[in-house]
Amino acid sequence: MAIAQSLDHFVVPVDDLVVAEDFYARVFGGILGKRNGLNVRQRKRGAVPHTFVQIGGKRMGVYLQSDHRPAPAGPRGLPTYSFTANQDGIASVIDELKTLGVKFDGPVYNAHPFAEQSIFFADPAGNHYAVYKQKGNTVESSNGRMTGVGYIELEAPNVEASIKFYHDVLGFEVQNRATDGKQAMLKMASGQTLILTQAPFASKGLVMSRKVPGPHIAFYVPTAKWTEAIELLDRLGIENGDRGAAKEPSADRGGTYMDDPAGYVIQFITDGME
Ligand SMILES: [Fe+2]
Repeated sequence: MAIAQSLDHFVVPVDDLVVAEDFYARVFGGILGKRNGLNVRQRKRGAVPHTFVQIGGKRMGVYLQSDHRPAPAGPRGLPTYSFTANQDGIASVIDELKTLGVKFDGPVYNAHPFAEQSIFFADPAGNHYAVYKQKGNTVESSNGRMTGVGYIELEAPNVEASIKFYHDVLGFEVQNRATDGKQAMLKMASGQTLILTQAPFASKGLVMSRKVPGPHIAFYVPTAKWTEAIELLDRLGIENGDRGAAKEPSADRGGTYMDDPAGYVIQFITDGME
């Protein structure tokens, strides 16, 4: 039964906030939002610098790492975050990547059952992205260069444990599993796909925990299902809550956070939360 409706937004670790802000604005057509952790009041709280960037009509985030990460081996890798785009959007992304001298793969046709053509690349911090045109006559919104948040592919050191978590806790439907057991595709009520791929959970350059403000992946729970979602977490014994004192208090408007079996921090949000 569907609990979480859709992949709403994500916050990724980066090794240089200014470089990331510039890259996200140029490549994704992102609109810079609030910068945090750059004044004394926030520093006294222990806030780590992070910036919100509006992409595809949603509020994404980039969070400053505490450590370096190894450079990515190529344009494709794990985890992969993605946005949907129309043909013009894909052409603009390709132009910008060429101008910036960023290596990319694509356009790749039918990289996934739901993607007509995809471009794969890494941002300057090594986060892997796909920008893709959906198959079929999907109605594209006008959220800017990126039309929306797409699929997500996550590392799963134990694929079965991750499938169980996203199925039981978020209510995603298991669509198919690779015969070797190393990958699974799950579908959200929104039609977005979660791909779980067997791989070690690589360093994200900072502590990843539901108890620490930082990178996370947020799923939208409809208001009508919020109470049910929180009760389900309690019943399944999934520890969750708001995060430390470093986060500015927001009167319970920040949803709740939990850890997935791999090490990702998952946020549940509903209407009026961010
Ligand atoms: Fe969030």
